[in-house]
Amino acid sequence: MKHYQVAVYPGDGIGIDVTAETMKVLRAAESRCGFRIEATEMPWGCAWAAHHGGHVAPPDFLDTLRPFDAVFLGALGMPSAIPDHISLVPLIRMRQVFDQYVCLRPARLLEGAACPLTGREPGDIDLVVVRENSEGEYTATGGSFRVNTPDEVSVQTAIHTRKGVERILRYGFDLARRRRCRLTMATKSNALNYSMVMWDRVLASVAPDYPDVVSDKVHVDALAMLFVRAPQRFDVVVASNLFGDILSDLAGAVVGSLGLAPSANINPERIYPSLFEPVHGSAPDIAGKGIANPLAAIRSAALMLDFLGEADAAAVIETAVTDAVRDGRVLTPDLGGHATTPAVGDDVAARVAVVKPL
Ligand code: NAD
Ligand code: IPM
Ligand code: MN
Repeated sequence: MKHYQVAVYPGDGIGIDVTAETMKVLRAAESRCGFRIEATEMPWGCAWAAHHGGHVAPPDFLDTLRPFDAVFLGALGMPSAIPDHISLVPLIRMRQVFDQYVCLRPARLLEGAACPLTGREPGDIDLVVVRENSEGEYTATGGSFRVNTPDEVSVQTAIHTRKGVERILRYGFDLARRRRCRLTMATKSNALNYSMVMWDRVLASVAPDYPDVVSDKVHVDALAMLFVRAPQRFDVVVASNLFGDILSDLAGAVVGSLGLAPSANINPERIYPSLFEPVHGSAPDIAGKGIANPLAAIRSAALMLDFLGEADAAAVIETAVTDAVRDGRVLTPDLGGHATTPAVGDDVAARVAVVKPL
């Protein structure tokens, strides 16, 4: 039987609740499919910081995580206790130091999920945002000067490398080949005249290597509009770090709820552990209420199993989630239901034991 070492990092707010439900579903998948997840829980986050000198994770947390096969994260952030730009540092460090340069954020309209757009049927929307996850707008390059004076100046520089842009585009093209052979790149070269003009150039240089994939580029503002007006147009959408962040929340909402949106932060070379987490955050507005939707986290665990080589288990979990949404009896309020977070976890775990995978 295969064993996998997984660091489980619930984090803050609803991250803790949705991780607990994900573990139930993983245990059900283990029993059914015959593998073992050795879970090591990392208690880090804003509550932990209160007893550890204000640090949200130990200074050597990356060394602690490095030997694991994967990291599963709930969500980070509790802005009432610690400013987000401090409490979220471990997330961005994991992505960058572990060279998880691909962030996959699939969005598929499921039967039973209320699409906020009129006239869209299940199957109409099935796209993946492929977000550049290691550089771009997130390199923390800059500084502030004359802070809290009328003359304050802040500079934040985005860093886009040709290597970084090319590798994410090639990943997107390879993925498109396994899907519907369409790739759209988010640009903004009408205003960002160095960075996005380079993205355009790299697309033009890479696309001829994939003659079977139809590719285009769309300015990100128009792309946001098209996610609402014509989401059926998209298959693989490649975007810079910040553009991909924004587009993936929108994609989640368009298919019914952010509470359904999974993500995988992948180091394709498998030199470092990859990181799996829902797209959503710690949702302080509903934390502690027992109504967070755990399905995004559960689907992120399915992405993790798929990446680890347990494709059958991943398919079983995705089928169980699909069935639960179609059935509609045990869903949280974001999907129009009345169920609690643990009730949804129990329901999906029970389904995992019996469903026929797609
Ligand atoms: P958020 O994603 O936490 O919440 C946005 C809205 O969606 C809220 O109204 C929330 O209640 C709702 N929502 C989110 N997930 C849900 C779920 N599973 N079920 C039902 N409703 C859900 O975004 P925010 O409010 O901008 O950020 C809150 C905190 O989370 C901040 O500290 C932010 O920095 C952090 N954050 C962390 C991550 C992460 O850890 N990956 C991602 C995004 C935001
Ligand atoms: C996400 C989040 C993070 C991001 C924040 C919390 C740093 O919004 O994972 O989508 O911007 O990448
Ligand atoms: Mn985000």
